[in-house]
Amino acid sequence: MAKILVTGGAGYIGSHTVLALLNKGHQVVVVDNLFNASYESLVRVQKLANKSLTFAEVDIRDKAALSQVFAQESVDAVIHFAGLKAVGESVQKPLAYYQNNVEGTLTLVEVMKQHQCYHLVFSSSATVYGEANQPPYIETQPLGNPTSPYGKTKAMVEQILMDVAASDQRFKITNLRYFNPIGADISGDIGEDPNGIPNNLMPFVAQVAVGKREKLAIFGDDYPTKDGTCLRDYIHVSDLAQGHVDALNWLFNQQEGCCEAFNLGTGDPLSVLDIVRGFEQYSEQKIAFEIAPRRSGDLPAFWADSDKARSQLQWTPVKTLQDMMVDTWRWQSKNPNGY
Ligand code: NAD
Ligand code: UFG
Repeated sequence: MAKILVTGGAGYIGSHTVLALLNKGHQVVVVDNLFNASYESLVRVQKLANKSLTFAEVDIRDKAALSQVFAQESVDAVIHFAGLKAVGESVQKPLAYYQNNVEGTLTLVEVMKQHQCYHLVFSSSATVYGEANQPPYIETQPLGNPTSPYGKTKAMVEQILMDVAASDQRFKITNLRYFNPIGADISGDIGEDPNGIPNNLMPFVAQVAVGKREKLAIFGDDYPTKDGTCLRDYIHVSDLAQGHVDALNWLFNQQEGCCEAFNLGTGDPLSVLDIVRGFEQYSEQKIAFEIAPRRSGDLPAFWADSDKARSQLQWTPVKTLQDMMVDTWRWQSKNPNGY
């Protein structure tokens, strides 16, 4: 078993991944500045796993503090979630996004190098395929030109990590391209807890169900899709978390330096209306909605070709649409105000 440092481990995907790592018997060190998370998520993760972890409230851009964590812990690998993720906000505050996501990663990789830690799993996004590539997205397609500064930071970091791996054969890196993570741990004790008005579909639907929002605005029903609403590849966060455990195993088995991209999606496109109807069916809650104008920057449809992750990482997503909906509702109804 290994010691894994998880940046951003108190956040939505991070907390589920930390739980999966502890359940596999790994030791975990979480580094998070708690900018978009609460320590309570990690209290609950430790309770669920019945194991403890080490926590450092550190900003990854603080090189001295990050270096101190590496000096205290003998880290075998890093999973790097820390960053800002709101697409719309990134258009308003590009510098914050480049500083956090790009500069933060540069600092992290420099510190890893100083401490001879060469295994890295990076949180990338399907947004790196940009607008020009046709779905299903496959890793052999070139990196696109994402429209938002957020998307650009992900494409830049992927590029930087490829250059790092090419320059130093000791580095073994995976760029995991997430599609649309939703759902929550089956316990209902950890889940997605956005600040303010949710930007993403699933937490918005869940907040309508719990009475915190009046109705969902569906952004456009005139797209060239089966029902006119956008198609996405929704992936259960616990399947996504398992993808990180599988990516780590894969990295530990590599003999040569590498930097490989893997799509983490199910390969099944679902529309916004599929999600609304699915939630209503499996949670037995009515979701009030209205059709609103299209949201700027939304692509009509994208989903993953997930064969590479399935065959090389031996990753198998197992959760169904019903699991995604039931688990979202369990988390939201048990924790109407989040953590
Ligand atoms: P999140 O906001 O819940 O988690 C990110 C965590 O990083 C938070 O706990 C935050 O406090 C921490 N953080 C931010 N900046 C930091 C810094 N400078 N130093 C230390 N900690 C910092 O987001 P999430 O949904 O769990 O996403 C995790 C990662 O996955 C992000 O990099 C995100 O861009 C990427 N991603 C998310 C999605 C999605 O739909 N959720 C899709 C594709 C990619
Ligand atoms: N949607 C609505 N109403 C809402 C919110 C969303 O109709 O209130 C629609 C969107 O228009 C889109 C679909 O629901 O058609 C999904 O939207 P999300 O905001 O949940 O997700 P996106 O596909 O826009 O973006 C997500 C992540 C990004 C990432 C991208 C590609 O949030 O970080 O997937 O991986 F870049």
